[in-house]
Amino acid sequence: MSWRTLRWHAGAVLLLDQRALPEREQELACGTVEELASAIEQLVVRGAPAIGCAAAYGVALAAQRSEARSLAALARELADARARLLRTRPTAVNLAWALARMQRCEERAARAQEASVASVASALLAEAHALTAEDERICRALGRAGAELVPDGARVLTHCNAGALATAGYGTALGVVRAAVEAGRRVSVLADETRPFLQGARLTAWELQRDGIPVTVIADAMAAHLMRGGEIDLAIVGADRIAANGDVANKIGTYGLAVAAHHHGIPLIVVAPTSTLDASIASGAEIPIEERAPEEVSSRFRARNPAFDVTPAELVDAIVTEHGVHRAPYADSLPLALPAGR
Ligand code: MRU
Repeated sequence: MSWRTLRWHAGAVLLLDQRALPEREQELACGTVEELASAIEQLVVRGAPAIGCAAAYGVALAAQRSEARSLAALARELADARARLLRTRPTAVNLAWALARMQRCEERAARAQEASVASVASALLAEAHALTAEDERICRALGRAGAELVPDGARVLTHCNAGALATAGYGTALGVVRAAVEAGRRVSVLADETRPFLQGARLTAWELQRDGIPVTVIADAMAAHLMRGGEIDLAIVGADRIAANGDVANKIGTYGLAVAAHHHGIPLIVVAPTSTLDASIASGAEIPIEERAPEEVSSRFRARNPAFDVTPAELVDAIVTEHGVHRAPYADSLPLALPAGR
């Protein structure tokens, strides 16, 4: 790929600015935790795994920029940084997962012999690099696992952007599409435009077109009509949080898509790394749903803007993680006890 969703450069976090795509490819440099947190809130970087990677770099940034004179002072600054980053987006559990992993790294580094502010900071930067590199490796693994579900000639409907732009690279739902194409299968994609931020019309279409994978954008309201007309074989989506019973929180509109797919006998496949699994909650009822600014929907009239919905597990035909393809009952089949990303 000729672009990166995010990268560390010269002591700052560089984000490919997803608000500007597909018109302009420009990076936004974040030199402070506040700048990075606000970029996450404004969807400069978005998608559950990418948010996790960005947050990890945010903690590394706080440590690199710190002028603390003691480990105790550094620990206080890092706790503040984690709290600020955690507040940015409530639904994607990868954020909390990445921050917890960075906290464990900090505690380990601070316990080492002759630990110093500088040694903890360098351990945290190394951990953010590792977490980000792992994310891309995991996407390739879940892509390979899910590709077996995509037959030659498949016409795949996807929603939002669960691609390279939503991860450190390669993507989750689009990772499966990419892996199927790399395995020699002909695959075409229908991308829901995904109101109101248009992740499908702008981001999914942009990155698939860059890879030469046939993509056609449709308005969200067209999906059921095309299903009824026999124009869709498979629906493949990502996830922002998956409960222990297999209920899936994903971009608003996924639930409606799942109902329509079920009605038409079209399989719905959810693709996510294990860092998106939340073993601490029994069902999707416990998933916090982010309510974004109403102005994103209408600047003129009163509007609502829940950014995610929950699809009940019974509408999900398979969940693909880096460990393979999991089927219902998900409480038994999901790798809930395994540490994420290992
Ligand atoms: O609000 P966003 O764009 O951060 O929403 C997240 C998503 O892109 C999707 O819901 C996606 O399917 C999960 S992330 C791979």
